[in-house]
Amino acid sequence: MEPKHTDFIGVFDSGVGGISILRELTAELPNEDFLFYGDSANAPYGEKDEEEVRQIAEDLAQRLIDRGSKAIVIACNTATSAAAESIRSRYPGVPVVGVEPAVKPAAMELDHKKILVMATPMTLKRDKYKALAGRFSENAQLVPLACPGLAARIEQGSLEESDLKEMLEDLLLPYAGQVDGVVLGCTHYPFIQNEIREILGEIPFFDGARGTARELKRRLEAAHLLTERTERGKVVFDSSRKSLKELLLYEAFYEMN
Ligand code: DGL
Repeated sequence: MEPKHTDFIGVFDSGVGGISILRELTAELPNEDFLFYGDSANAPYGEKDEEEVRQIAEDLAQRLIDRGSKAIVIACNTATSAAAESIRSRYPGVPVVGVEPAVKPAAMELDHKKILVMATPMTLKRDKYKALAGRFSENAQLVPLACPGLAARIEQGSLEESDLKEMLEDLLLPYAGQVDGVVLGCTHYPFIQNEIREILGEIPFFDGARGTARELKRRLEAAHLLTERTERGKVVFDSSRKSLKELLLYEAFYEMN
């Protein structure tokens, strides 16, 4: 029997959003192999209740461990807030890295300014976000904006179509000219950065991808789990619906300029 391949990192999200994280992971760790898993059968996570998302994320992490992942990246703000702690406690020897809304870098750069925090309804409802926002409430005026339906719409692709523009205008026009920066607190949103910018103008944007990639590298180093390969690593895409259309969409988002 072939030895099981265990020198790879498992990355998951409800869908294409996780690809915005994956792109930074492969840039930071070019020799690692990655398995990206989009849980499209359970998408969107952000409008489910917390217990359900925790269960879904725990099951998925278990499947990635069973397939041989040496580390897990929860490439989703919603699943991180619901399940990162419980997943970490289940696999003590495995680095488990999540993503959280980039409130800290935004508050540090835009000292005492007004910052819009776009995220799924569930992320903003959780105590984890409230604690994060509380830590920076003296340094910035945070304006949380739940965006129901937005991740699901991005998941459909065709980002140039007018219905997405209308959806964004409904959500964002009240803030045009009113905020000094934006936190993209859902991993799907970096793919529509240009469309958001068209409404809110040339203000700074922040997301958690870079920080997550650096954290993964630190955690792999500390656990002596960095690969010894010197050639470029491979990326494999998979999804819970196993639809070819979805896998092609993941690849297209991964290659997007
Ligand atoms: N991409 C996920 C996040 O970062 C959520 C999308 C969804 O609602 O499934 O929160």
